[in-house]
Amino acid sequence: MKRIVDLNELSLEQIQNIIDEAIAFKNGKVIDYHQKKVVANLFFEPSTRTHYSFDMAAGNLGCRTQNFEASNSSLKKGETLYDTCKLFESIGCDALVIRHPEEDYFKQLEKLNVPILNAGDGKGNHPSQSLLDLMTIKEEFGHFEGLNVVIVGDILHSRVAHSNYHVMQRLGMNVYTSGPLEYKQEGYNYVDFDDVIEDMDIVMLLRVQHERHVGDENFSKEKYHQIYGLSLERYQRLKETAIIMHPAPINRDVEIKDELVESEKSRIFTQMQNGVFVRMAMLHKVLENE
Ligand code: CP
Repeated sequence: MKRIVDLNELSLEQIQNIIDEAIAFKNGKVIDYHQKKVVANLFFEPSTRTHYSFDMAAGNLGCRTQNFEASNSSLKKGETLYDTCKLFESIGCDALVIRHPEEDYFKQLEKLNVPILNAGDGKGNHPSQSLLDLMTIKEEFGHFEGLNVVIVGDILHSRVAHSNYHVMQRLGMNVYTSGPLEYKQEGYNYVDFDDVIEDMDIVMLLRVQHERHVGDENFSKEKYHQIYGLSLERYQRLKETAIIMHPAPINRDVEIKDELVESEKSRIFTQMQNGVFVRMAMLHKVLENE
């Protein structure tokens, strides 16, 4: 693979192959580049999980890493995204991991000769998050076909929702979305959370993006939790085999009740653990151009 920026560019076979290799890494598969490959982490937007798990993944593969600090860089002198990335190619990096606030930013980088791994583009795509979500589902259920999943929250602005909605449908899952009507995505299958909760295999909650509600006097965390959140009452209604997922960071007691974050059905920290193995597989695929 020359790049992984949007899962719609990958075949289902390629997607299954990344997931299977990630599971193999979790089970002890070893690849060691002996410090001969260099991965640059270029985060133009805040990140904790994605940044540090890509860094950990590169280290586990025996790669060196360069961690770009946007706030202390020549971006401040007006250097463009393209020129910044071209610099990291020029100094010898073998792969660029990039998060940027602009949707489809990678289209302006097509002239680069170094593989790009998209770590999030605005509200567009978050392929590594989707792949770690799929790995977690595969580990849990062993398959995708016919599983019911509801994604709850701000669907419109969520790159996690957009990436997952399409790939999960392609894999034969029944995908529903729910949450505030103003954040509904046109063309997506929208349901009332309470109407479907008993039938779901997976409940995927999204972070309330508080930055969007600054100054909004009508927004109340308590009200959001009551209408759209995973409360203790809703938890009791889940299928025995159902699991809870969340890309994190989490707003405890808003989209999910505090004590449910580490409950029996929660796979939230498994998702984070799997993130390292999925990112190892992604890096391996582009470093080998497999
Ligand atoms: N899930 C996710 O993308 O988290 P970060 O923003 O911390 O990377």
